[in-house]
Amino acid sequence: MRALLISIFGMCMLATAAAADETAPANLANACAGCHGTDGKSPGQIPMIAGMAAADLAAELRQFKNDQKAATVMNRIAKGYTEAEIDAIANYFGGM
Ligand code: HEC
Repeated sequence: MRALLISIFGMCMLATAAAADETAPANLANACAGCHGTDGKSPGQIPMIAGMAAADLAAELRQFKNDQKAATVMNRIAKGYTEAEIDAIANYFGGM
């Protein structure tokens, strides 16, 4: 019983840590939702990113980051992410 309680407590602590982790993929992806829509399903003029393959998404973000692709805002946004964060975001949307 005691071991069970301790392990439940441990899981709660883990869940709290995950929720507070701003580099968790879901939290990183939240920053995209404002423009690209919830889960990348954009309702308006902004291109959909839902359904893109993770590798394509990562490649596009790197092109924006390195100014290899013309953009109004995405180049500035992409510059704010590390290489590891770009992969995490790409895998998050690519896994949908
Ligand atoms: C301020 C609004 C805004 C935010 C926030 C934003 N985007 Fe964008 N995104 C755009 C616009 C607008 C374009 C079209 C290119 C341009 O003009 O910059 C675009 C284009 C893209 C493209 C290229 C899609 C295509 O088919 O060509 C990808 C990939 C992308 N965004 C991914 C992301 C990801 C991932 C995030 C979150 C880290 C994000 N965007 C956050 C506005 C935004």
